[in-house]
Amino acid sequence: MSDMMWAGRFTKQIDERVNDFNSSIKFDSRMYRSDIFGSVAHAQMLGECGIIESSESEKIIAGLKDILDDIETGKLEFEPSAEDIHMFIEAELTKRLGNTGKRLHTARSRNDQVALDIRLYLRDEIKAVKACCIELAEAIISIAKEHTLTVMPGYTHLQRAQPITFAHHILAYAQMLIRDIGRLDDTYKRTNALPLGSCALAGTTYPIERERVCELLGFDEVMENSLDGVSDRDFCIELASTLSILMMHLSRFSEEIILWCSWEFKFVELDDAYATGSSIMPQKKNPDVTELIRGKTGRVYGDLNTLLVMMKGLPLAYNKDMQEDKEAIFDALDNVKLCLKTFIPMLKTMRVNKENMRAAAAKGFINATDCADYLVKKGMPFRDAYKATGTLVHICIEKGLTLEALPIEDYKAVCASFESDVFDAISLEACVMQRKSQGGPAPDAVKEQIEKLEERLGEIS
Ligand code: ARG
Repeated sequence: MSDMMWAGRFTKQIDERVNDFNSSIKFDSRMYRSDIFGSVAHAQMLGECGIIESSESEKIIAGLKDILDDIETGKLEFEPSAEDIHMFIEAELTKRLGNTGKRLHTARSRNDQVALDIRLYLRDEIKAVKACCIELAEAIISIAKEHTLTVMPGYTHLQRAQPITFAHHILAYAQMLIRDIGRLDDTYKRTNALPLGSCALAGTTYPIERERVCELLGFDEVMENSLDGVSDRDFCIELASTLSILMMHLSRFSEEIILWCSWEFKFVELDDAYATGSSIMPQKKNPDVTELIRGKTGRVYGDLNTLLVMMKGLPLAYNKDMQEDKEAIFDALDNVKLCLKTFIPMLKTMRVNKENMRAAAAKGFINATDCADYLVKKGMPFRDAYKATGTLVHICIEKGLTLEALPIEDYKAVCASFESDVFDAISLEACVMQRKSQGGPAPDAVKEQIEKLEERLGEIS
C-alpha cells in the first residue's frame, strides 16, 4: 500500500482486480516519447519561472532523457502493474533522482498531462497517415499515366453506362485522397493546441508560463479555458472521422478491385505476392487484402462511434471514461496505416487487362448516348434523338447485334438523318476522345487533371 501514490488518503491496499481494471499502461505506454517530451518542456518552464530551482529542473530534464534512452535501448521495461505511462515515468524518475524527481508534477495534473500526450502523439501519427496518402496518390497517378488510352466501361447502378478510361477511373480515387489529406491537415490544426497548464481543471496558483511551453513543444496556440483543455477530445473524434472517410474511400476502391479480379470481369489481376489461395479449391486466387480493408473499414467506423458515444454524456471536466479514448483512436490509426501500407504495393503490382476492359466496353451499348448526340449534332432535339436511339438499341437486342454491327439500312429506317459516318461517331475511341469537357475521360482532359493533381501534391509535400 505504501507504494501507491495516494497512500496517505487511504487505509487499504487497492484490490488487485481494480488495479488491473484501472490501469491503462498496456495501451498508453506507446506514448512514452510524448510523455517525456512534454515533461521536459514542463520542467524547463518550471525552472525558468523559478517555480523549482533551475539546478533541479536540469537534473529532471537529464533524468527524463536517460529514461527515454533506457526505454529505447530496451534497458527499461514498462511495469505492467503501473497505473499508466505518466505514473510509470514519474515513479522511475523519482527512483533515480529521489526528492528532485518528486518536484516534476508541480503545477500539473495527469488530466492536462494525458491531454497533452495524446495531442503530441497524434501530431506525429497524422503526419504518418498523410505521408501514406501522398504515396498512394502518387502511385495512382503513375498507373494512370500508363492508361490514358485504356478504354473501359464506366458504370452507373453497376450497369455499363458510358465509355471512360482506366486512368480516368482510378484518378477519381486520387481526388478523394487529396480531400483526405486536406481533412488530415485540418484535424492537425485543431490537434496542435496546448492543454498543459489547465492542470486538474482549474489552472494553478503557481506563476506558470503556458506560452513558453507552447513554444517549446511547437504548438500553434494555448488552449484558453482550463476546463476545456482537460476535457476536450474533439480532436480524437475529428481524426477518427477523417480516418473513417479515408477508409470509406479505400474500401470502395477495394470493392472495385474485388469485382475486377472476379472471372466475370477479369479487368485486373493481383500479383501472387498480394493474393491468397484456398485450402480446398486449388484454382482459387483470392483478393484477401482488399476484402480485409473493406472489413476493417467497419472497425474504424466503430472506433469513431466509440469515441462519440463515450463523450456524449460526460460532465465537465475530466472523467475516467476518457481513458477509453486511446484504445479507440490508436486502433483506428494502426488499422488505417496497416491498410494503406499493404494497399499501396498491392496496387503498384496489380496487372491491368486492357483487352478485357476494351471487350467489356464494346458490349452493353455504352455508345448509345453518343449515337443520340450524333443526331443532335445533325439538328435533332435531344429527346427525339434519345428516343430514336432507344429504338435502335431495341432492334440490336432483338437481332443480337451491337450498335457498331447494325447495318446502316436499319439506322436509316429509324431516322433518315443517319449516314454511314455514324459508325465513326460511335466508335469507342471516338466516344472517349470526344468527352473533352473539363474533368472528362478524353486523354487530354485526363492529362490536365494529372498535371493539376501533381501540382497540388507538390504543394502538399
Ligand atoms: N490514464 C488516464 C487516462 O488515460 C490518465 C489521466 C488520469 N487522471 C485521473 N484523474 N485519474 O485518461
